[in-house]
Amino acid sequence: MKKELLELEKRALEELERAGDASELERFRVSYLGKKGLVTSFMRRLGKVPSEQRPEVGKLANRIKTNLSRHFDEVSEALASGKAERSTYLDVTLPGREQPRGHLHPISLATIEVCQILSRMGFRVVTGPNVELDYYNFEALNIPKDHPARDMQDTFYISDNVVLRTHTSPIQVRVMETQRPPVSVIAPGKVYRRDSDVSHTPMFHQVEGLLVDKGVSFGDLKGTLTGFVHQMFGRDTALRFRPSFFPFTEPSAEVDIQCVICKGDGCRTCSHTGWLEILGSGMVDPEVYGFVDYDPEVYSGFAFGMGIERIAMLKYGIDDIQLFFKNDMRFLRQF
Ligand code: DAH
Repeated sequence: MKKELLELEKRALEELERAGDASELERFRVSYLGKKGLVTSFMRRLGKVPSEQRPEVGKLANRIKTNLSRHFDEVSEALASGKAERSTYLDVTLPGREQPRGHLHPISLATIEVCQILSRMGFRVVTGPNVELDYYNFEALNIPKDHPARDMQDTFYISDNVVLRTHTSPIQVRVMETQRPPVSVIAPGKVYRRDSDVSHTPMFHQVEGLLVDKGVSFGDLKGTLTGFVHQMFGRDTALRFRPSFFPFTEPSAEVDIQCVICKGDGCRTCSHTGWLEILGSGMVDPEVYGFVDYDPEVYSGFAFGMGIERIAMLKYGIDDIQLFFKNDMRFLRQF
């Protein structure tokens, strides 16, 4: 009888230890301490214990009952006050904690969209180094030593011959140097200029385009860029080709689109002209072919370059370029 009682106590304490919530605790109370519980029924059977053992067994039974009740009270209280996060307990029916999910930066989104449109037209995406030789950034693009674009004001020099690229155009030269026509590539990437004010940041993004083959004309340039603008900004966006100058293209043209804000009526964004410049372009200058050993009598081609921040601002209606680089979540979350 004594042995039985001690085993009962041991079992009861183990079960109590495992109880993780109110319903398990109640089950414990009923099966041990309740009216029909094991401890209570033991007490009832005390009368059958031989009289000389009764005092001792009775004392033991009482001690066990008190002990279990005390433990039971302690565990109930701990569970109720939430102090005892019982380690074995997991409520799988509770909703999970949602993890915040990130997404692409608006500059990445715009870059991807530009590249997708041009890829569908057959342009292949390539890249080039951000730290570039003077030769590729300037020399081979027919930008002579005394050209204003080389001014210390504009270019970050690493050394006499090494710069942070000021545009993505050097990638044109690197591609033509290693590949014979036909070539049709686009090259997205970061570019750097010593410029920082409300409308300029020292690092920004461009996408360059180059297509060279036999019999490529200015009409191909116009058709390609018109198709691009219509897909990027909508079919009814008017555009114009405005004569311009770049050392590496001849003839050259800048492309303006009808102001997306005022639809051409004239507003602050378009300086009351109704037009916004979005890219530079032109027929590749024969001087450039000289650096890469292409025969200008056989081949012709066009190139273009656009600023991604500019495109993104027009596309998403953003009026401050600095917003792209401030990492303000209230801004970024909108994309
Ligand atoms: N590289 C020029 C710039 O950064 C943009 C440009 C103009 C690229 C005409 C071209 C081009 O490929 O043909 O301002």
